[in-house]
Amino acid sequence: MHAKKSLNLALASILFITSGRGCLAQSLRDYADRIGVLIGTAVNPSKLTEAAYASTLAREFNMVEPENAMKWGAIRPDQKTFNFKSGDQVVAFAQGHRIKVRGHCLVWQKYNPAWLMNGHFTSEQLSDLLREHISTVMKHYAGQVFAWDVINEAFDASGGFERSIWYDSPGIGMAGKGTAYLEQAFRWARAADPKALLFYNDYDAEGLNAKSNAIYAMVKDFKHRGVPIDGVGLQAHVFNLNTKEISSMSENIARLAALGVEVHITEMDAGLPLDKKGNLVNQSDLTKQAEIYRFVAKACLQQRGCTAIQTWGFTDKYSWIPGYTKGTKGMALLFDEVYAPKPVYNALREVLQQQAQSAGIDPGP
Ligand code: XIL
Repeated sequence: MHAKKSLNLALASILFITSGRGCLAQSLRDYADRIGVLIGTAVNPSKLTEAAYASTLAREFNMVEPENAMKWGAIRPDQKTFNFKSGDQVVAFAQGHRIKVRGHCLVWQKYNPAWLMNGHFTSEQLSDLLREHISTVMKHYAGQVFAWDVINEAFDASGGFERSIWYDSPGIGMAGKGTAYLEQAFRWARAADPKALLFYNDYDAEGLNAKSNAIYAMVKDFKHRGVPIDGVGLQAHVFNLNTKEISSMSENIARLAALGVEVHITEMDAGLPLDKKGNLVNQSDLTKQAEIYRFVAKACLQQRGCTAIQTWGFTDKYSWIPGYTKGTKGMALLFDEVYAPKPVYNALREVLQQQAQSAGIDPGP
Protein backbone atom coordinates (compact mmCIF):
# COMPACT_ATOMS: atom_id res chain seq x y z
CA MET A 1 0.00 0.00 0.00
CA HIS A 2 1.14 3.53 -0.74
CA ALA A 3 2.93 4.90 2.34
CA LYS A 4 0.91 8.14 2.50
CA LYS A 5 -2.39 6.31 2.13
CA SER A 6 -1.56 3.86 4.90
CA LEU A 7 -0.56 6.76 7.15
CA ASN A 8 -3.90 8.42 6.44
CA LEU A 9 -5.70 5.19 7.23
CA ALA A 10 -3.80 4.86 10.49
CA LEU A 11 -4.66 8.45 11.44
CA ALA A 12 -8.30 7.87 10.58
CA SER A 13 -8.48 4.80 12.78
CA ILE A 14 -6.82 6.66 15.67
CA LEU A 15 -9.43 9.39 15.26
CA PHE A 16 -12.14 6.77 15.12
CA ILE A 17 -10.96 5.12 18.33
CA THR A 18 -10.31 8.31 20.29
CA SER A 19 -13.62 9.84 19.29
CA GLY A 20 -15.27 7.10 21.36
CA ARG A 21 -18.18 7.09 18.92
CA GLY A 22 -19.31 4.59 16.36
CA CYS A 23 -18.95 7.19 13.64
CA LEU A 24 -17.21 10.47 13.21
CA ALA A 25 -20.32 12.66 13.46
CA GLN A 26 -19.56 16.12 14.76
CA SER A 27 -20.89 16.95 18.20
CA LEU A 28 -22.41 20.24 19.30
CA ARG A 29 -19.11 21.33 20.74
CA ASP A 30 -17.18 20.34 17.61
CA TYR A 31 -19.16 22.99 15.74
CA ALA A 32 -19.28 25.46 18.61
CA ASP A 33 -15.51 25.29 19.17
CA ARG A 34 -14.93 26.10 15.51
CA ILE A 35 -17.29 29.04 15.30
CA GLY A 36 -16.12 30.39 18.64
CA VAL A 37 -19.36 30.18 20.60
CA LEU A 38 -20.07 28.48 23.88
CA ILE A 39 -22.53 25.63 24.09
CA GLY A 40 -23.26 24.91 27.71
CA THR A 41 -25.36 22.99 30.17
CA ALA A 42 -26.21 23.04 33.84
CA VAL A 43 -24.63 20.09 35.66
CA ASN A 44 -25.11 18.16 38.83
CA PRO A 45 -21.74 17.14 40.30
CA SER A 46 -23.17 14.03 41.93
CA LYS A 47 -23.89 12.59 38.47
CA LEU A 48 -20.36 13.01 37.11
CA THR A 49 -19.53 9.46 38.20
CA GLU A 50 -22.22 8.10 35.85
CA ALA A 51 -20.32 7.08 32.72
CA ALA A 52 -22.98 8.04 30.16
CA TYR A 53 -23.56 11.39 31.90
CA ALA A 54 -19.86 12.25 31.96
CA SER A 55 -19.08 11.11 28.42
CA THR A 56 -22.07 12.92 26.89
CA LEU A 57 -21.16 16.07 28.78
CA ALA A 58 -17.52 16.01 27.69
CA ARG A 59 -18.40 15.19 24.09
CA GLU A 60 -21.15 17.75 23.52
CA PHE A 61 -20.40 20.85 25.60
CA ASN A 62 -17.63 23.40 25.95
CA MET A 63 -19.24 25.23 28.89
CA VAL A 64 -20.87 24.07 32.13
CA GLU A 65 -22.62 25.73 35.05
CA PRO A 66 -23.33 24.03 38.37
CA GLU A 67 -27.12 23.76 38.58
CA ASN A 68 -27.16 24.27 42.34
CA ALA A 69 -23.65 23.69 43.70
CA MET A 70 -22.56 27.32 43.80
CA LYS A 71 -25.77 28.77 45.23
CA TRP A 72 -25.83 30.12 48.78
CA GLY A 73 -27.83 27.13 50.02
CA ALA A 74 -25.15 24.71 48.82
CA ILE A 75 -21.97 26.65 49.35
CA ARG A 76 -22.74 28.18 52.73
CA PRO A 77 -24.24 25.60 55.12
CA ASP A 78 -23.75 27.98 58.06
CA GLN A 79 -22.54 31.51 58.54
CA LYS A 80 -18.94 30.58 59.21
CA THR A 81 -18.56 27.69 56.77
CA PHE A 82 -17.99 27.72 53.04
CA ASN A 83 -18.31 24.33 51.36
CA PHE A 84 -16.71 24.40 47.92
CA LYS A 85 -16.53 20.62 47.47
CA SER A 86 -19.31 20.18 44.90
CA GLY A 87 -18.42 23.31 42.98
CA ASP A 88 -14.78 22.21 42.90
CA GLN A 89 -15.84 18.84 41.43
CA VAL A 90 -17.49 20.63 38.53
CA VAL A 91 -14.41 22.81 38.00
CA ALA A 92 -12.07 19.77 38.07
CA PHE A 93 -14.18 17.91 35.52
CA ALA A 94 -14.34 20.99 33.30
CA GLN A 95 -10.60 21.57 33.45
CA GLY A 96 -9.98 17.96 32.46
CA HIS A 97 -12.10 18.40 29.34
CA ARG A 98 -11.31 21.96 28.15
CA ILE A 99 -14.71 23.17 29.30
CA LYS A 100 -15.37 26.70 30.58
CA VAL A 101 -17.26 27.21 33.85
CA ARG A 102 -20.04 29.76 34.40
CA GLY A 103 -20.80 30.56 38.03
CA HIS A 104 -24.37 30.80 39.36
CA CYS A 105 -25.33 32.77 41.45
CA LEU A 106 -24.33 35.30 44.13
CA VAL A 107 -27.45 37.40 44.81
CA TRP A 108 -30.86 35.71 44.66
CA GLN A 109 -33.98 35.57 46.77
CA LYS A 110 -34.26 31.79 46.39
CA TYR A 111 -32.16 28.75 47.32
CA ASN A 112 -30.80 30.52 50.38
CA PRO A 113 -29.96 28.65 53.60
CA ALA A 114 -32.45 28.79 56.50
CA TRP A 115 -29.85 30.35 58.83
CA LEU A 116 -29.71 33.33 56.46
CA MET A 117 -33.44 33.69 55.79
CA ASN A 118 -34.49 33.22 59.42
CA GLY A 119 -31.51 34.92 61.04
CA HIS A 120 -33.20 38.31 61.68
CA PHE A 121 -30.09 40.10 60.48
CA THR A 122 -30.01 43.88 60.30
CA SER A 123 -29.41 45.61 56.97
CA GLU A 124 -25.88 46.39 58.05
CA GLN A 125 -25.20 42.76 58.92
CA LEU A 126 -26.71 41.60 55.63
CA SER A 127 -24.56 44.05 53.73
CA ASP A 128 -21.43 42.68 55.43
CA LEU A 129 -22.55 39.11 54.81
CA LEU A 130 -23.16 39.72 51.13
CA ARG A 131 -19.89 41.55 50.56
CA GLU A 132 -18.01 38.78 52.34
CA HIS A 133 -19.88 36.11 50.39
CA ILE A 134 -19.24 37.63 46.97
CA SER A 135 -15.61 38.22 47.83
CA THR A 136 -14.91 34.76 49.29
CA VAL A 137 -16.69 32.77 46.60
CA MET A 138 -15.35 34.76 43.66
CA LYS A 139 -11.79 34.74 44.99
CA HIS A 140 -12.00 30.97 45.53
CA TYR A 141 -12.99 30.49 41.89
CA ALA A 142 -10.86 33.27 40.37
CA GLY A 143 -9.21 31.99 37.20
CA GLN A 144 -11.56 28.99 37.18
CA VAL A 145 -14.98 30.56 36.70
CA PHE A 146 -14.87 32.92 33.73
CA ALA A 147 -18.33 34.50 34.18
CA TRP A 148 -20.73 34.90 37.10
CA ASP A 149 -24.44 35.46 37.40
CA VAL A 150 -23.89 38.12 40.04
CA ILE A 151 -27.60 38.85 40.25
CA ASN A 152 -30.43 36.43 39.58
CA GLU A 153 -34.08 37.38 39.06
CA ALA A 154 -34.23 40.81 40.68
CA PHE A 155 -37.01 42.30 38.51
CA ASP A 156 -40.70 41.39 38.52
CA ALA A 157 -42.90 40.99 35.44
CA SER A 158 -43.96 44.62 35.45
CA GLY A 159 -40.38 45.88 35.58
CA GLY A 160 -40.46 46.68 39.30
CA PHE A 161 -38.27 45.02 41.91
CA GLU A 162 -38.86 41.59 43.41
CA ARG A 163 -39.07 41.77 47.15
CA SER A 164 -36.02 40.09 48.63
CA ILE A 165 -33.75 39.78 51.60
CA TRP A 166 -31.15 41.77 49.62
CA TYR A 167 -33.48 44.50 48.32
CA ASP A 168 -36.08 45.42 50.91
CA SER A 169 -36.82 42.57 53.32
CA PRO A 170 -34.96 44.13 55.00
CA GLY A 171 -32.31 44.65 52.29
CA ILE A 172 -28.66 45.64 52.50
CA GLY A 173 -29.53 49.25 53.29
CA MET A 174 -30.78 50.48 49.93
CA ALA A 175 -34.46 49.55 50.05
CA GLY A 176 -36.55 51.73 47.75
CA LYS A 177 -33.48 53.01 45.91
CA GLY A 178 -34.05 51.05 42.71
CA THR A 179 -30.98 49.41 41.28
CA ALA A 180 -28.63 50.79 43.97
CA TYR A 181 -28.31 47.43 45.74
CA LEU A 182 -27.59 45.69 42.43
CA GLU A 183 -24.96 48.30 41.62
CA GLN A 184 -23.35 47.66 44.99
CA ALA A 185 -23.22 43.90 44.35
CA PHE A 186 -21.67 44.41 40.90
CA ARG A 187 -19.03 46.72 42.38
CA TRP A 188 -18.15 44.16 45.08
CA ALA A 189 -17.97 41.47 42.40
CA ARG A 190 -15.58 43.46 40.19
CA ALA A 191 -13.35 44.12 43.18
CA ALA A 192 -13.33 40.43 44.15
CA ASP A 193 -12.29 39.10 40.74
CA PRO A 194 -11.51 41.83 38.21
CA LYS A 195 -11.12 39.27 35.39
CA ALA A 196 -14.50 37.56 35.70
CA LEU A 197 -17.36 38.61 33.43
CA LEU A 198 -20.28 39.90 35.48
CA PHE A 199 -23.83 39.04 34.42
CA TYR A 200 -27.37 39.98 35.32
CA ASN A 201 -29.60 36.88 34.76
CA ASP A 202 -33.40 36.61 34.55
CA TYR A 203 -36.38 34.67 33.15
CA ASP A 204 -39.31 35.85 30.99
CA ALA A 205 -37.12 38.66 29.71
CA GLU A 206 -36.16 37.07 26.39
CA GLY A 207 -38.41 39.18 24.18
CA LEU A 208 -39.41 42.83 24.42
CA ASN A 209 -41.59 43.35 27.49
CA ALA A 210 -41.79 45.33 30.74
CA LYS A 211 -39.17 43.20 32.48
CA SER A 212 -36.67 43.24 29.62
CA ASN A 213 -37.23 47.01 29.30
CA ALA A 214 -36.27 47.42 32.95
CA ILE A 215 -33.16 45.28 32.49
CA TYR A 216 -32.23 47.24 29.38
CA ALA A 217 -32.65 50.54 31.24
CA MET A 218 -30.47 49.28 34.09
CA VAL A 219 -27.69 48.11 31.78
CA LYS A 220 -27.82 51.39 29.87
CA ASP A 221 -27.56 53.38 33.07
CA PHE A 222 -24.75 51.16 34.45
CA LYS A 223 -22.77 51.40 31.22
CA HIS A 224 -23.28 55.17 31.14
CA ARG A 225 -22.06 55.61 34.71
CA GLY A 226 -19.25 53.04 34.59
CA VAL A 227 -20.90 50.56 36.95
CA PRO A 228 -19.27 47.20 36.17
CA ILE A 229 -21.53 44.86 34.17
CA ASP A 230 -20.44 42.69 31.26
CA GLY A 231 -23.45 40.69 30.27
CA VAL A 232 -27.09 39.74 30.48
CA GLY A 233 -28.25 36.15 30.84
CA LEU A 234 -31.60 35.25 29.29
CA GLN A 235 -32.78 32.06 30.97
CA ALA A 236 -35.18 30.87 28.22
CA HIS A 237 -37.26 28.41 30.23
CA VAL A 238 -40.17 27.83 27.84
CA PHE A 239 -43.30 26.48 29.51
CA ASN A 240 -45.78 27.18 26.73
CA LEU A 241 -44.96 25.80 23.29
CA ASN A 242 -47.25 28.36 21.65
CA THR A 243 -45.63 31.29 23.38
CA LYS A 244 -45.30 34.53 21.44
CA GLU A 245 -43.08 35.94 24.18
CA ILE A 246 -39.83 34.92 22.53
CA SER A 247 -40.75 36.17 19.06
CA SER A 248 -39.03 39.51 19.67
CA MET A 249 -35.91 37.91 21.12
CA SER A 250 -33.60 39.01 18.29
CA GLU A 251 -34.57 42.64 18.85
CA ASN A 252 -33.96 42.36 22.57
CA ILE A 253 -30.57 40.69 22.10
CA ALA A 254 -29.62 43.32 19.52
CA ARG A 255 -30.47 46.26 21.76
CA LEU A 256 -28.52 44.77 24.69
CA ALA A 257 -25.51 43.99 22.49
CA ALA A 258 -25.61 47.57 21.19
CA LEU A 259 -24.95 48.73 24.76
CA GLY A 260 -21.68 46.79 24.68
CA VAL A 261 -22.63 43.84 26.89
CA GLU A 262 -22.56 40.15 25.97
CA VAL A 263 -25.72 38.09 25.97
CA HIS A 264 -25.81 34.44 27.08
CA ILE A 265 -28.79 32.14 26.77
CA THR A 266 -28.38 30.58 30.20
CA GLU A 267 -31.05 28.05 31.16
CA MET A 268 -32.89 26.90 28.07
CA ASP A 269 -35.41 24.09 28.30
CA ALA A 270 -38.92 23.50 26.97
CA GLY A 271 -41.14 21.20 29.04
CA LEU A 272 -43.72 19.17 27.10
CA PRO A 273 -47.18 18.29 28.49
CA LEU A 274 -47.20 14.78 30.01
CA ASP A 275 -50.15 12.57 30.95
CA LYS A 276 -50.58 10.94 34.38
CA LYS A 277 -48.36 8.04 33.34
CA GLY A 278 -45.61 10.43 32.35
CA ASN A 279 -46.07 9.89 28.61
CA LEU A 280 -46.18 12.64 26.01
CA VAL A 281 -49.68 14.04 25.45
CA ASN A 282 -48.84 14.96 21.82
CA GLN A 283 -46.09 13.26 19.85
CA SER A 284 -45.96 16.30 17.57
CA ASP A 285 -44.72 18.39 20.50
CA LEU A 286 -41.24 16.96 19.94
CA THR A 287 -41.14 18.76 16.60
CA LYS A 288 -42.58 21.97 18.06
CA GLN A 289 -39.94 21.80 20.78
CA ALA A 290 -37.19 21.39 18.21
CA GLU A 291 -38.44 24.48 16.38
CA ILE A 292 -38.40 26.52 19.58
CA TYR A 293 -34.80 25.55 20.31
CA ARG A 294 -33.91 26.29 16.68
CA PHE A 295 -35.54 29.72 16.91
CA VAL A 296 -33.72 30.63 20.13
CA ALA A 297 -30.36 29.34 18.89
CA LYS A 298 -30.72 31.31 15.65
CA ALA A 299 -31.79 34.46 17.47
CA CYS A 300 -28.60 34.18 19.50
CA LEU A 301 -26.13 33.24 16.79
CA GLN A 302 -27.36 35.96 14.44
CA GLN A 303 -25.89 38.56 16.79
CA ARG A 304 -22.17 38.85 17.42
CA GLY A 305 -22.83 39.88 21.00
CA CYS A 306 -24.66 36.65 21.84
CA THR A 307 -21.81 34.34 22.74
CA ALA A 308 -23.29 31.36 24.60
CA ILE A 309 -26.24 29.00 24.38
CA GLN A 310 -26.78 26.92 27.48
CA THR A 311 -29.48 24.41 28.41
CA TRP A 312 -30.64 23.68 31.95
CA GLY A 313 -29.30 20.13 32.04
CA PHE A 314 -28.97 17.90 28.99
CA THR A 315 -30.69 14.60 29.74
CA ASP A 316 -34.41 14.23 30.53
CA LYS A 317 -33.28 11.83 33.25
CA TYR A 318 -32.21 14.74 35.43
CA SER A 319 -34.27 17.79 34.47
CA TRP A 320 -35.82 20.05 37.12
CA ILE A 321 -39.00 20.44 35.03
CA PRO A 322 -41.01 17.35 36.15
CA GLY A 323 -40.43 18.22 39.81
CA TYR A 324 -41.18 21.90 39.32
CA THR A 325 -44.39 21.26 37.36
CA LYS A 326 -45.57 18.41 39.63
CA GLY A 327 -45.18 15.90 36.83
CA THR A 328 -47.37 17.74 34.33
CA LYS A 329 -44.42 18.63 32.07
CA GLY A 330 -41.13 17.02 31.13
CA MET A 331 -38.89 15.77 28.33
CA ALA A 332 -37.56 19.31 28.17
CA LEU A 333 -33.98 18.69 27.12
CA LEU A 334 -31.68 17.50 24.30
CA PHE A 335 -31.25 13.84 25.23
CA ASP A 336 -33.81 11.33 26.46
CA GLU A 337 -33.45 9.33 29.67
CA VAL A 338 -31.01 6.89 28.07
CA TYR A 339 -28.93 9.64 26.47
CA ALA A 340 -30.30 9.19 22.95
CA PRO A 341 -30.41 12.50 21.03
CA LYS A 342 -33.91 13.92 20.42
CA PRO A 343 -35.18 16.04 17.49
CA VAL A 344 -34.30 19.08 19.54
CA TYR A 345 -30.63 17.97 19.62
CA ASN A 346 -30.59 17.65 15.85
CA ALA A 347 -32.16 21.10 15.45
CA LEU A 348 -29.51 22.71 17.63
CA ARG A 349 -26.75 20.84 15.84
CA GLU A 350 -28.09 21.96 12.47
CA VAL A 351 -28.11 25.60 13.52
CA LEU A 352 -24.49 25.33 14.68
CA GLN A 353 -23.52 23.53 11.49
CA GLN A 354 -25.21 26.17 9.32
CA GLN A 355 -23.34 28.86 11.22
CA ALA A 356 -20.06 27.02 10.60
CA GLN A 357 -20.94 26.63 6.92
CA SER A 358 -21.72 30.28 6.45
CA ALA A 359 -18.42 31.14 8.15
CA GLY A 360 -16.67 28.75 5.73
CA ILE A 361 -15.44 26.47 8.52
CA ASP A 362 -17.80 23.54 8.30
CA PRO A 363 -15.89 20.55 9.62
CA GLY A 364 -18.27 18.11 7.86
CA PRO A 365 -21.33 16.17 8.96
C1 XIL B 1 -33.38 25.32 39.93
C2 XIL B 1 -32.72 23.95 39.94
O1 XIL B 1 -32.78 23.41 38.63
C3 XIL B 1 -33.42 23.05 40.91
O2 XIL B 1 -32.70 21.81 41.04
C4 XIL B 1 -33.52 23.71 42.28
O3 XIL B 1 -34.29 22.92 43.13
C5 XIL B 1 -34.14 25.11 42.17
O4 XIL B 1 -33.42 25.86 41.23
N1 XIL B 1 -33.92 29.80 37.57
C6 XIL B 1 -32.63 29.70 38.02
C7 XIL B 1 -32.09 28.39 38.45
O5 XIL B 1 -31.88 30.69 37.95
O6 XIL B 1 -31.15 28.50 39.46
C8 XIL B 1 -33.20 27.46 38.88
O7 XIL B 1 -32.61 26.19 39.12
C9 XIL B 1 -34.26 27.38 37.81
C10 XIL B 1 -34.89 28.74 37.59
